[in-house]
Amino acid sequence: MPIITIFGATGNQGSAVLQAVLASGTYTPRAVSRSLDTPASKALIAKGIEVVVGNLWDKESVKKAIRGSDVVFGTTNFWDPEVFPADPQGKGEITQGKNLVDAAKEEGVKFFIHSSLPNVSEDSKGQFTHVYHCDNKAAIENHLKASGVPFAVLLTGYFPENLYNYGLMEKTDTGFRIPIPKYGPNDNQEFTWVGHDLGQAAVALLSNYHDSKKSILGKRFPVVSFKATHTELADAIAKGECFQLRSSFRARSGAPREKADPAKIEAYVCQGIRSVSGVFGSHHSAFVTMSSAKPGPAT
Ligand SMILES: NC(=O)c1ccc[n+]([C@@H]2O[C@H](COP(=O)([O-])OP(=O)(O)OC[C@H]3O[C@@H](n4cnc5c(N)ncnc54)[C@H](OP(=O)(O)O)[C@@H]3O)[C@@H](O)[C@H]2O)c1
Repeated sequence: MPIITIFGATGNQGSAVLQAVLASGTYTPRAVSRSLDTPASKALIAKGIEVVVGNLWDKESVKKAIRGSDVVFGTTNFWDPEVFPADPQGKGEITQGKNLVDAAKEEGVKFFIHSSLPNVSEDSKGQFTHVYHCDNKAAIENHLKASGVPFAVLLTGYFPENLYNYGLMEKTDTGFRIPIPKYGPNDNQEFTWVGHDLGQAAVALLSNYHDSKKSILGKRFPVVSFKATHTELADAIAKGECFQLRSSFRARSGAPREKADPAKIEAYVCQGIRSVSGVFGSHHSAFVTMSSAKPGPAT
């Protein structure tokens, strides 16, 4: 079977892609990690998955990791402590992305799936120029376009997984509170439920990239699982688990927070979203098109 090399395979996005690829049975996933000795890498190895070492700061290691694969799933790490907070003038996420794209080109990769975000500076016509985690990914996308490597882009929204991956739900006497100070209670948000949808979207691209009639190459596909305010999300989670969850917002304070058990929260969030799936309105049409595409034979 052809190989897809997956960056971030020990993290949220890459692991979702890895699981979906495994389930599709059309490609052999190869996971990339900076270390084979972490629990996440060891867990993959124990399941018989090939894990190779690659570090996005080191192009040669990335080339080695990719060698012999047909496809690459690429995600970069904006939050890397080596470069965070972002310095647009210095070494940053764009360096990681350029290393990855250049390595893919030099290794003759046939198809590159880039996890991207919109260029907020451009889209807002210069009104918002400091949303680096978005603009960086758009810059990498431009580099990919110029490289000549066949590619398609998956655009993501806010991950509901943040609630348990980053301990964003605070325990209260009566339930949980979701403090998300960047957003107002009535601000609409496009969510990408990574564990549920991102892998399926990647598999749909994998199944269709060789078919010129489908013309997916060079295109951007938003993966939007649902649209909601954070208040609606909180209500959904509360309904799902039948416990009282206050959907009010409050600013972060310096006071210590009691973290809820991430595994429990994950179960609550997933159950909540599942229980109300559909109530937030229609799924994004591009995503529906892709997710309904039947996996075809890989060449
Ligand atoms: N959270 C959101 O709502 C959201 C929404 C849209 C986009 N994003 C973007 O998603 C990206 C993070 O993705 P994620 O949440 O899937 O990641 P994650 O769960 O935080 O995991 C990070 C992954 O990146 C790998 N990694 C980190 N530094 C690396 C390096 N120098 N070289 C190679 N691999 C490296 C890690 O692998 P090892 O530790 O095994 O090496 C791990 O698999 C960020 O760029 C963020 O801007 C996030």
